[in-house]
This record gives sequence, structure tokens and C-alpha cells, in this order.
Amino acid sequence: MSESLVVVNFKTYETAQGASAEDLARKMAGIETTARLVAAVSAFDVESVVEAAPGLEVWCQHLDPVGFGSNTGWLHPLTAIERGASGTLINHAEHKVSLEHVAMLLEQTPEGFSICACAANIEEARALSDLEPTFVAVEPPELIGGEISVTSADPGIVSGTAKAVKEVCSSVGVLCGAGVKTGDDVKVAVQLGASGVLLASGVTMSEDQLESLENLVYFL
Ligand code: G3P
Repeated sequence: MSESLVVVNFKTYETAQGASAEDLARKMAGIETTARLVAAVSAFDVESVVEAAPGLEVWCQHLDPVGFGSNTGWLHPLTAIERGASGTLINHAEHKVSLEHVAMLLEQTPEGFSICACAANIEEARALSDLEPTFVAVEPPELIGGEISVTSADPGIVSGTAKAVKEVCSSVGVLCGAGVKTGDDVKVAVQLGASGVLLASGVTMSEDQLESLENLVYFL
């Protein structure tokens, strides 16, 4: 089986900001698995999480395709890289951008920097994969933060996205997310053709984050 990805989006959950982000990242770094674990953290926390959890892959949750200069409040990709980020989410359902924004970000970031473009549906996934990001993650917005995993609620969107993305560009990896909480959800995601999952509350809101992480990767 090729390497599977489990991306934990820390969002702005209180349990995954500042010192809590460092704690959660340490737990992730301690998990024994062949899966590729990624922490997508607040821009404020990139540097401290990289320091706290050596070896853990750390991504941003959003970046802006700006240059150095007069751009107040925007997130410069090269500064993120200097602080230790090796990738980013973009166009998350909670932070939508234009296709042009994604295209410019891809142009501006160096080879090897992972870009995971999020899509609400198969059509958007198809359009994004045409830009050739590293990954496209499909997440039906209505299932985000809910109790039912996309893999159970709408398996067709996962398999349909996997098929559509591969038709457009076979090198783009496909992730799915929204409501993913367990290793069984991850297993079904992989069976449906995904290379992994993107999740948040299943870990950040868990009473036992370590146990949830261990369960997520149990079969990988
Ligand atoms: O980016 C992951 C996210 O949108 C899914 O959230 O809480 O449903 O796992 P959640």
C-alpha cells in the first residue's frame, strides 16, 4: 500500500492553539505508524510547533500569493517556509479563495512544498486538479464538524472525486474529509480511492487525543 496521509487541521480550536498546539503536535510526532501525519496549524504556531515536535510535518492552514512589501495582514509563503512549514491547505470551506489565488500560490511556492486545495464537490475538485496541486481534498461543507463521516454519509463523493481527479491529472493525490473520526473511516476512505484524510474535530475535540490518533492510523 502506498503511503497514506492523515492531515489534522488544528483550525482555531482552543485545544489546538498555542501551548495546546505544541502538546497535540508532540502526541502526533509520537505515533508509531507508516502513515504520513501532518499538522495544519495556525500561522502563529508554525514555528513553535516545528520546534516542539521535530520530525512532524507542519503545514499552514492558508497562504496568500503576495510578494515581500506593502501587504498588511497577508501570509507570505516564503516566511512560512522560513519558519518551517512544508505545505499548506488552501481554499478550505472556512476560508474560500479564487481559482486564481490557488494558481498564483502554486506558481509562487517552490517544488516540494505541498499544496492541498480543498473542494466542496466533484466539480470544484476537477477544476482545482487542473492546476496540479499536490493534493485535492473533498469536504462537503454541510458535514464538516458533524458526527457522520463523509465516507458513510456520501461515499460517492469520495470515489467520484478520486476518479475525476485522476482523469484530470494522475499525479494529484486525493484526500477526503468532514466528520472523519476513526480508523474505520480512514479505511473506507482508502477503499474508496483516497490517499488519506483531512480531519479536525475528531482529534481536536477528543477527550483523549492520543487514543484518537492511534485509532485513526490503526490499519495503515
Ligand atoms: O479541514 C478538516 C475539516 O474541515 C473537517 O472538519 O471537524 O469535520 O473533521 P471535521
